[in-house]
Amino acid sequence: MIAIRQFDAKDLADILQIEKISFSHPYNKSTFLHLLSAYNTGFLVAEHDGKVIGYIIYSADHSGAIVSIAVNSTERRKGIGSKLLREAISELISRVKTIELQVSANNIDASVFYSKHGFKPSGIMKNYYPDGSDAILMKLNQAKFHAIQRAWQS
Ligand SMILES: CC(C)(COP(=O)(O)OP(=O)(O)OC[C@H]1O[C@@H](n2cnc3c(N)ncnc32)[C@H](O)[C@@H]1OP(=O)(O)O)[C@@H](O)C(=O)NCCC(=O)NCCS
Repeated sequence: MIAIRQFDAKDLADILQIEKISFSHPYNKSTFLHLLSAYNTGFLVAEHDGKVIGYIIYSADHSGAIVSIAVNSTERRKGIGSKLLREAISELISRVKTIELQVSANNIDASVFYSKHGFKPSGIMKNYYPDGSDAILMKLNQAKFHAIQRAWQS
């Protein structure tokens, strides 16, 4: 059984492992701690058998943002990323009208994942990442989210 719950400091070791295998420029411990201390930031983890197998960080300021999400490579395509994203969206959408994120133009898997959850490309940021790749901006608005939520429930 997979539980989605709030981050706890003892989760950091598992999260750093997931981060290392998921990104070419992984966040380090101090970046996570900095994000955690930021105003209006949410941090959820997915836990299975006492082990953290995925996480999501999101924020709500004027608009909402998905800051980062990753699932352990052995646990992907099992719906865990979707559980985390849905939980974050449900929390954000009651507070903001739009949720935004950036995804590397090279990260087709994540683009497909976000599209499946109703995010639409809304712009491009040239040379955004340290490796020189572009970021695709994606947005989800409240109306689209409610339509998708009805589809999840049907
Ligand atoms: C993106 C990520 C979080 C998705 O997590 P996940 O648990 O595998 O996602 P889910 O199982 O909930 O997938 C939901 C849907 O997204 C799409 N999707 C997810 N991974 C995909 C892939 N590798 N290729 C194509 N479609 C994919 C599929 O439509 C999938 O539904 P399906 O399995 O029924 O076909 C995960 O691949 C990951 O950690 N990637 C590395 C980190 C990363 O790139 N994060 C995003 C940074 S912007």
